[in-house]
Parts: sequence; C-alpha cells; structure tokens
Amino acid sequence: DTIAVVLAGGVGTRLYPASSRERPKQFLALDGERSLLSRTVERVEPLADATYVLTRPEYADLVPDHAPDAEVLVEPAGRDTGPALVYAAHRVRDEVGECVLLNLPSDHRVGDGFADPAERALRAARETGKLVTLGVEPDRPATGYGYIKPGTDRGDYFDVAGFFEKPSTEAAERYVYDGFLWNAGVFAWTPEALLDEARRSDLAPLVESLDAGQPERGFRLVEPVSVDYAILEGCANAAVVPADVEWDDLGAWDALARVGDPDAAGNVVAGNALTVDAEDCVIATDEGSHVSVVGVEGLTVAAYDGRVLVVPTEDAQRVREVVARLEAEE
Ligand code: GDD
Ligand code: MG
Repeated sequence: DTIAVVLAGGVGTRLYPASSRERPKQFLALDGERSLLSRTVERVEPLADATYVLTRPEYADLVPDHAPDAEVLVEPAGRDTGPALVYAAHRVRDEVGECVLLNLPSDHRVGDGFADPAERALRAARETGKLVTLGVEPDRPATGYGYIKPGTDRGDYFDVAGFFEKPSTEAAERYVYDGFLWNAGVFAWTPEALLDEARRSDLAPLVESLDAGQPERGFRLVEPVSVDYAILEGCANAAVVPADVEWDDLGAWDALARVGDPDAAGNVVAGNALTVDAEDCVIATDEGSHVSVVGVEGLTVAAYDGRVLVVPTEDAQRVREVVARLEAEE
C-alpha cells in the first residue's frame, strides 16, 4: 500500500502575526480560498491508498474541518518533524503492515505535475529501501531550505552526495552555483528504512521506546529536531528525484511577494491597505485592520489581531527572532 502522511503540526513562526500558535499557517488560506492543508490533502489523495494527517495534540481538533476524509494521527507532543515522522512510520507500520509512505508538508503551493515525480519517488523508495526526497531546482540562494548535492545518476533518481539544511547566504550562493537542488520537504520511504536510520541517530531512544510500546516516554527523551537535521544530514542511504514543478514554501512573508499578484508599483496586498508612492511592499491584514504606507520600498507590513509587524521583506526569515523574543517575555 501507499500511505500519504501529511505534516500539519508546525507552528508557522515566520508568518507572525497572521500565523500563531493558536492558528498556525497550514490552517490559513493565505493566498486563496482554501487552507493550505485542505489543498495538500486534495493533491495527495489520488496518489495514496489512505491519507493520514499528522499533527501535535493542540491541533488535532482543527484537522477534520480541513481534511474530512483523512485519518488524524496525533503525536504525543510537538517535537518538530524528526520525532513526528518516526512516530508516524512506527504507527503506520503497526496498523497497515508492509507499505511505502509519502510524507509531505502542508505549507506549500504546488503547481501541476506533482504526481509524476511523486510516483517515481515512491517507486524508488519501494525498490531500493532508500530515503527518497524530491528535489527542486533553485532560482535564488534561499536560506530557509535544505540543499541537496546530487551524486551518481541511477536513472530514475540520483544518490544524495550531501544534504545541507538551512545554510548561510554565502553557502547557499555556492550551492546554487554548484547545481545543488532544494529539498522540497516531500519524502518517500518505507517505515523500516526510516526506523533503521533513526536507530543510528539521536532519535534512537525514541525508536526504542516506540518498540516498547511507550510513545509518551519516547517523546520525553528527545529534544525538538527536524528530520532534516536529525536524519537526512547524516544519511548515507538517501536518494533524490528531481521534480520539475512550480513549487513554493509559504514559509515567510517574502513568499507572498513571489506568489502574490502585484499592482503596477509591485505592491502585493492581501487585506485592507492604502499605498501612496510605495514600491514592492507586501501588506497583509485581517478584516478589522487597515494599513497605509507612504514613500517606502521593499517593506512588509502585517497586521492581525491588534499586532503589527514591520520588516524589510528581504529579512523576512528574521521574524522567527521576534517570535522567540515574544515567547521568552510571556
Ligand atoms: N506533525 C508535525 N509535528 N508537523 C510539524 C511539526 C511537528 O512538530 N513541525 C513542523 N511540522 C510540519 C509543518 O506544519 C510543515 O507542514 C512541515 O512540517 C515542514 O515544517 P517547516 O517548519 O515548515 O519546515 P521548513 O520549511 O522550515 O523546512 C523544511 O521544508 C523545506 C521545504 O519547504 C525542510 O525539510 C527543508 O529542508 C525544506 O527545504
Ligand atoms: Mg516550511
């Protein structure tokens, strides 16, 4: 069987203040009518025999509205994607038996042509027992993504010769120049393949606890860590399938500048705003807010729930520093 596991437990820090712990981005309709999660589920359902939405306990009740036909898989606690995906692999293996998993994020905009590379990744995972990721050709030295150095060409896929999560701008510039691919965050693997790699990583105590039927204990034993750092960076058994598909992670406000519909002056507005002599700005508001900008360039202004964020759009990744400070003060 092919089982889709849709990741929907992130907090969406970098889209503050639209995204918040109570209402993270996957449940928002930032660039259209329907939430990112519901569009992700719709995209994968035709590819899989069953679809699970994987989330942390706080968000379990939010899921059914966005994915009425999917099963909800709730990890014991939010510990980022590493522990979550290990938990999902273990659970699905116990429930379904032999299968291959297609794991996907729920914070992406994806164009047509996703099914073909996804099928190829699933086939490679089934036939080789490798951890297979989809790779997208970069068009800028983004620092919010993982970079993959392709190795030997095996026809349907490449071996992964190196994986570098969220590099500095300087490193990212080099990687783009050297023909590395972005990790699209879409992974195909069999449960056994992932669990074997996890046993060789810092997540080993979690796998042991899961084997012993003690998931809560396992989650207490591990620190939050993404699957990219915990497993992929050190993995000698990974493969990449290049995907020629329009793709964007709606991770931070600069994404709206890329995917939104700009006016003649290059401003992208989602919500209520007045721009006077302003260029290349991103403005996003909730219904009750109104933002005016005059004589500025390249700024993002976001106003939700009485909270206002102003940041140069090129520094949009730094919004995580704001949220860290606010949480420290709370
Ligand atoms: N269930 C669960 N539990 N899901 C989670 C958790 C968690 O604790 N934390 C995050 N997620 C979900 C998010 O909701 C999102 O759908 C997905 O996992 C990826 O998490 P992000 O936090 O958005 O990761 P990222 O964008 O910084 O980086 C990842 O994706 C990039 C591509 O978009 C990495 O895989 C990068 O290497 C990759 O390039
Ligand atoms: Mg993301």
